[in-house]
Amino acid sequence: MTVVDRRSLLASLGAGLLSAPAFRSAAAAPAAAPAAGLAKLAADRGVLFGTAVNHASLGRYPALTEILRADAAIVVPEWELKWASLRPSPTAFDFAKADSLLDFAGRNRLAVRGHALLWHEALPRWFAGLTKQETGRLVADHIGTVARRYAGRLHSWDVVNEPINPRDGLPGGLRNSPFYQALGPSYLETALDLAAAGDPSARLVINDYNLEMQVPEHEARRQAMLALLAGLVRRRIPVHALGIQAHLDAGGAPFDPARFRAFLRAVGDLGLAVYITELDVNDRLLGPDPAARDMAVAEVYRTFLGAALAEPVVKVVMLWGVSDLGTWLNDSPNARRRDGLPIRGLPYDDQFRPKRAWSAIRDALLEAPVRS
Ligand code: G3I
Repeated sequence: MTVVDRRSLLASLGAGLLSAPAFRSAAAAPAAAPAAGLAKLAADRGVLFGTAVNHASLGRYPALTEILRADAAIVVPEWELKWASLRPSPTAFDFAKADSLLDFAGRNRLAVRGHALLWHEALPRWFAGLTKQETGRLVADHIGTVARRYAGRLHSWDVVNEPINPRDGLPGGLRNSPFYQALGPSYLETALDLAAAGDPSARLVINDYNLEMQVPEHEARRQAMLALLAGLVRRRIPVHALGIQAHLDAGGAPFDPARFRAFLRAVGDLGLAVYITELDVNDRLLGPDPAARDMAVAEVYRTFLGAALAEPVVKVVMLWGVSDLGTWLNDSPNARRRDGLPIRGLPYDDQFRPKRAWSAIRDALLEAPVRS
């Protein structure tokens, strides 16, 4: 899980990183929101901008729908397309919540990303009891069935989520996931081929985390990811983009804009696009003062997006939620603040009011070069 890895990493690197230079200067003061929301500002620069949503929140908060109308051109289901939501049993599918979310997106003229055809987490309990042969059969059945069902309706699929984990010691730095154990390293190619056959129109994405900061663990992950993608491209396996989750920490590990941009260009040199897929900023390493936290969080958004959007290879930017109300950051035992205060990591507060982070994202979009 993203947060566990980063937490242990920060613990090992010590508090010296708490004043990471890249994210230290004061954030811009909030200004009045422009007539155009974030989606239009992004679209004017060739960037598709949106956020994760979940079925429960959409039904509960009308204010959220209003925000999406201004600040999103695309959404991604936070839960509803994962195995644990879709698969009540090895022989059954439950598409009700996913269908409802896609219908909502259609009614509101929002594009949709799929997340995720394969992920070693959010698997149903029955998955653990499968033999290797059964896992192989179920992987093929799952990807084929789900990709075909939504064929033509999705902008892109996170076909494999989080395949990299150099700590597992496997060749190429691959994660020792149930899919790897059952099918070997070729499971990635199999998944991509099945997704392409099921939905020839969706862009196919390999999505991962801890690719952003200038620390040894992230650098090792970046190199492993580049090697993985280069191999897929060399073997003409259908893949179109790298998804960089970008679950960031204010006051965390150092960020080197130039080195990060060089990584983005290296992905582009493979002929692939880059999507920022799950952007949020955790403030758990900062003191309790909300104003100081808001400024630091805004500066992380500003600096990170400033670097990412400077590279035309970045075509999509997705937040992992727009409001502090309901963010996963408060639910995950490894993400939440030690003082128990709710995290203020997203552009809207828990009453759906825009914060400094919203202005920082707006400013980064205004400065972004236009891309085709
Ligand atoms: O809605 C169901 C409910 O019907 C069911 O009874 C209950 C049983 O546990 O689960 C509920 O689902 C919860 C789901 O979020 C929807 O709210 C799950 O318990 C909970 O585990 C799930 O957490 C999600 C987590 O991924 C695991 O799937 C978070 O919301 C989501 O933000 C998080 O997102 C991940 C990305 O997919 C991959 N990258 C990291 C990111 C953060 O962990």
